[in-house]
Amino acid sequence: MNILFATSEAVPLAKTGGLADVAGALPKALSKRGVDARVVLPKYEEIPAHLIGQFEQIAHFTVSFSWRNQYCGLFKAELDGVTYYLIDNERYFKRKGLYGYGDDAERFVFFCFAVMEAVRFMDFRPDIVHCHDWQTGLIPFLLKTRYAFDPAWAYAKSVFTIHNLKYQGLFGIDMLQDLIGAGDDMFRYDSLEFHGAASCMKGGLVYADKLTTVSGTYAEEIQTEYYGERLDSLLRHRSGDLVGIVNGIDDELFDPMNDSALHMPYRNSLSRKRKNKLELQRELGLPQSESVPLIGIVSRLVEQKGFDLIMATFEELLEEDVQFVILGAGDWHYEHFLNDKAYWYPDKVAVWIGYDDRLARRIYAGSDMFAMPSQFEPCGLSQLIALRYLSVPIVRETGGLKDTVQAYNEYTGEGNGFSFTNYNAHDYMYTVRRALSLYRNEEAWKQIVNNGSKEDYSWNHSAKAYISVYSQLLAHGKEKEL
Ligand code: ADP
Ligand code: GLC
Repeated sequence: MNILFATSEAVPLAKTGGLADVAGALPKALSKRGVDARVVLPKYEEIPAHLIGQFEQIAHFTVSFSWRNQYCGLFKAELDGVTYYLIDNERYFKRKGLYGYGDDAERFVFFCFAVMEAVRFMDFRPDIVHCHDWQTGLIPFLLKTRYAFDPAWAYAKSVFTIHNLKYQGLFGIDMLQDLIGAGDDMFRYDSLEFHGAASCMKGGLVYADKLTTVSGTYAEEIQTEYYGERLDSLLRHRSGDLVGIVNGIDDELFDPMNDSALHMPYRNSLSRKRKNKLELQRELGLPQSESVPLIGIVSRLVEQKGFDLIMATFEELLEEDVQFVILGAGDWHYEHFLNDKAYWYPDKVAVWIGYDDRLARRIYAGSDMFAMPSQFEPCGLSQLIALRYLSVPIVRETGGLKDTVQAYNEYTGEGNGFSFTNYNAHDYMYTVRRALSLYRNEEAWKQIVNNGSKEDYSWNHSAKAYISVYSQLLAHGKEKEL
């Protein structure tokens, strides 16, 4: 089975969030199970030099889209058992960061066309192209239209995974039409049109043979108006082709026993974990104490992640004996708020604005609890990493948080974290207070941590679920050919 992952980010090459973790770990897990899973992504400037050094150029060709003709270089390397291809065009990708440019539409339309062409130069014929989020949404569209009869893609199917329905790649119809060169009929409500604009995500949602998203609960939620981002009726229409498969984490990459960022390796020992806490407090200038509960947050600083609840309750929670360590980057007003609190409460709050993979690992290891009161959360990997690093998650019951965190029940002793239902600051504050009070009950705390440490957060189950999606699709394709 040959699967080509088309993605805008993948660990270890380029990462802004959980999509990169998934696109790095899932192909690895699939390869271990006999699937030839390869990954294609843009050749960004920020890919570390020691990794770029391992790639060799295997082809160069021209990508024609609408009236444009652009150079494309194709690079290839095998990293940790998985083959990666990079799409090179310096005009589009030799820049700082991954996204957020005025010409993102053109950059990712180019990427989609380039992937369609690049297959001609690979020693690999994908049975399925597995696309992720809006940046690759036009690939399923192209496969059913311009490339429908192209021998390079003969019989290929597509899977589109929704990692986050909120980011849809919406552009003006004129702009997208000028980029794709498709006729007016492609910009109707049953194709790429979306409330007067053109949507790259709809290219995936309408045209992919199978849709998946990253947890069972999110798969249900996005079919409702509240979470559906105005795409719920389309998703209800396609519900027979939509499945939710919860993400895992790469348990080799996230292993507190074998993590070079940590001061002290540990697996099941809270006392060794707390040495990392002391070291984190020292590093960030907080008073060193093993007993004060330390709440960690590692996150994009955006509304999705529940920062409005965090802001509304911050001062009140600081009346407790508690420390907060927060690492993140994003919206200016959250950054400003957090920096301000760190300034006024230097003994209780440490804030680091930016993206730092190694500090993130030290926070997972050094924190007792990990807060993630998301407004919505397709899956969430941070709570899984936290669980693996024995940091107890405090979450809102939504999407993948609901599917992976079970609230602790004092009577049965079950549960690996703390959770609340409504998106409400008081409910969040009550839940944090309950966690803080149970932290003082050593027996109960050990039990919660222990419950969490026994579960398997790796890709073991979910890789099999993807293989079954692929197999169904290929079996169905064969039936049709006959
Ligand atoms: P999302 O993809 O919505 O941002 P996830 O929980 O799925 O949320 O994944 C976030 C990933 O990005 C995790 O691996 C997390 O540790 C990492 N991450 C988020 N913000 C930062 C940051 N500022 N520095 C380092 N890693 C971060
Ligand atoms: C998105 C979602 C997050 C999910 C990640 C990987 O960024 O916000 O919940 O874990 O994709 O699927």
